[in-house]
Amino acid sequence: MQELEQLVAWAVSEFESTTEPAHLESIKGRFLGRNGSVTELLKGLGKLPGAERKAAGAAINAAKQSIESALQSRREALRAAALEAQLQREALDVTLPGRGAGVGGLHPVTRTLGRIEQLFRSVGFDVADGPEIETDFHNFTALNTPADHPARSMHDTFYIENAPGVLLRTHTSPIQVRYMQAHVARHARRSPMPPVRIIAPGRVYRVDSDATHSPMFHQVEGLWVDENVSFADLKGVLTDFLRRFFERQDLAVRFRPSFFPFTEPSAEVDMGCVFCSGKGCRVCGHTGWLEIAGSGMVHPNVLRQVGIDSERYLGFAFGMGPDRLTMLRYGINDLRLFYDGDLRFLGQFA
Ligand code: PHE
Repeated sequence: MQELEQLVAWAVSEFESTTEPAHLESIKGRFLGRNGSVTELLKGLGKLPGAERKAAGAAINAAKQSIESALQSRREALRAAALEAQLQREALDVTLPGRGAGVGGLHPVTRTLGRIEQLFRSVGFDVADGPEIETDFHNFTALNTPADHPARSMHDTFYIENAPGVLLRTHTSPIQVRYMQAHVARHARRSPMPPVRIIAPGRVYRVDSDATHSPMFHQVEGLWVDENVSFADLKGVLTDFLRRFFERQDLAVRFRPSFFPFTEPSAEVDMGCVFCSGKGCRVCGHTGWLEIAGSGMVHPNVLRQVGIDSERYLGFAFGMGPDRLTMLRYGINDLRLFYDGDLRFLGQFA
């Protein structure tokens, strides 16, 4: 009897000694398997005298049941522990704050372009565009720019290899040409011709790279052609635009004589420095003025080129730099920040 109790205690401690279900099953075999200790004891019953057999059989069976139930409870304990471990591993804390979806924002130059469009639309301008890969004809020839003009030299302009006469546009002025050609075709039989009144924002390219020049930058072209458009209109439209853009009604604007092949007369447009209010500082090179656009009355040769009667119609054009306007409006001192893609910078405008 004592032997049986020891056997049960031994089995229980063996079961407790493992945490592996497979190992537990092999330990089980040592007690309850075909040649296990309990099975051997039962086999031995036949050799006992009949009188003892019944009591011994009952005792062995009781021991067997104790071992089986110890085994069963060990199995359950291991299963519960495995489940618990899995739950720990896959734990999901639904009370943690979410990671959040990063909301993008508009690039500061894009914001400026949107603002420029909005202001010009409010005074009746349409928005046009054109290709960034242009022909020599649209970029230069049709704009009264002769073959020996310095802007046409190899080190000022990006030409396309193995494509003669094709280049990256150096300004948005070729859009003037394309738009007027289409306009003339569309209104061939109308007299007077409806006015052309557009702005044309876009990317332009020049071989130039430092703190204030990038090989790719932006321009916004403006063009108004009609029967009675004057230089006074040019001054009024641009002055009004700049004052509304910078939200300063007292902003000074001046027109300085200049030269462009496609305008005559031509003028450089300057505005009073927004940093020193014209007193002179580092930003304006101590002049009190900032250069903001080129402009002028459309040259008759340009009108003639696209089939517009230059005796009857005339107009003004301008090309301004929205990158510069953005820097001035937000107080940014390095143009390259716009194109580095640094989120610490860009995030401030989102
Ligand atoms: N296209 C000129 C430039 O890039 C600017 C300009 C546009 C001047 C229209 C006059 C009229 O410098």
